[in-house]
Amino acid sequence: MLLVMHAPRIDLFEWLLQNAPNATYNLAFSNIYGLTVEEYQKYTDFTLPKNFDLGSNAQYGAHELKETLSVMYNCTPDNIVTTTGASEANFLVFSSLLSQGDEFIIEQPGYQPMWLTPEMLGARRINWPRKFENKFRVDSETLSSLITEKTKLVVLTNLHNPSGVLTNQQTIKTIAEIAEEGGAYVLVDEIFLDGSYSKKPSCFGIPNVLVTSSATKIYGLGGHHTGWIIAPEGIAAQCQRMKAHTTGASSSISEIMTAHLLKNARDEVIKRFQKHATTNRVVVKKWMTQHKDLLKWVEPDGGIVCFPKYSLNVPSVVLCKHLFEAQKILVNPGAYFNSEGFIRLSFGGDKETLQSGLEALTNGLQDVHRNHHS
Ligand SMILES: Cc1ncc(COP(=O)(O)O)c(C=O)c1O
Repeated sequence: MLLVMHAPRIDLFEWLLQNAPNATYNLAFSNIYGLTVEEYQKYTDFTLPKNFDLGSNAQYGAHELKETLSVMYNCTPDNIVTTTGASEANFLVFSSLLSQGDEFIIEQPGYQPMWLTPEMLGARRINWPRKFENKFRVDSETLSSLITEKTKLVVLTNLHNPSGVLTNQQTIKTIAEIAEEGGAYVLVDEIFLDGSYSKKPSCFGIPNVLVTSSATKIYGLGGHHTGWIIAPEGIAAQCQRMKAHTTGASSSISEIMTAHLLKNARDEVIKRFQKHATTNRVVVKKWMTQHKDLLKWVEPDGGIVCFPKYSLNVPSVVLCKHLFEAQKILVNPGAYFNSEGFIRLSFGGDKETLQSGLEALTNGLQDVHRNHHS
């Protein structure tokens, strides 16, 4: 049988890309502002040599990056596949581990591509709720009841996108044990983990767990789009083979520049992120406390996104469209994370835009409240 794949629409991306250019208050993206070349050089002291061969290509990843990642994750180069962003990393994991008819279990709310991609590949989604009432924590007990003989993969993000909630190592260990009993692997996307308010180790090393990540969110290197998979050797080999069908080789320059930053200044760049995120989190927290009548939240454990529940009885897409049209505020509808009644609010931008954006958001929400009750 010939399987024809059609790319399903990712509402979240289309919403962001279509509206961001016209937003006055962009409270929607999940990355911090990028590093300038000047900042980069201050952190690394690295410039590309004049005789750098622009034709060079590292099919199996630049050795500088693999070396650096081996230290970061306490693993060997055979555990690593370098990729073009966490997007390709996740794609390679899904396409290597899932076939038509397999089941995968995915946290909900969640990051849309992490179920649309495996569904596109013919796998069947099983939702695993992370409830607001339970502070968006993963519930390992429910997981056991969702596993069947067809389950091949359990998928979660840590920190959780969209809520910013951390799952601790012990819980991931329990999840991995439950998955292993059912013959499934666990994929943990750790793209936001270094944004935790206190430093947390990767969960690679827990048996049966593979992780993906990239330097696009916390480190200000989105333009390089360097990502990676850290997995048991056999799976890494499968993903590496799959990569021949996507990008073949990632950008050497990006990988080398990313490696120098991670090797020489990882902690400092994390501090840069934390300084900014902490300042903005204080602003958001104060605003949340003042507007409990409009929104309630689970305070994130890090990162620059949160997922408050609003008290209006309006679908999230309608609400967000209204906020955009009336106030030029860009926030993401909960529906795009498969959770109605929520918005994802980001606070990675500059403090002034955040402050005036939150004021505009108060007006926008009160406006909808009035119209709804008049
Ligand atoms: C959980 C998660 N994984 C992966 C990505 C994509 O990462 P990258 O920009 O490295 O491709 C994102 C981007 O928002 C994300 O939130």
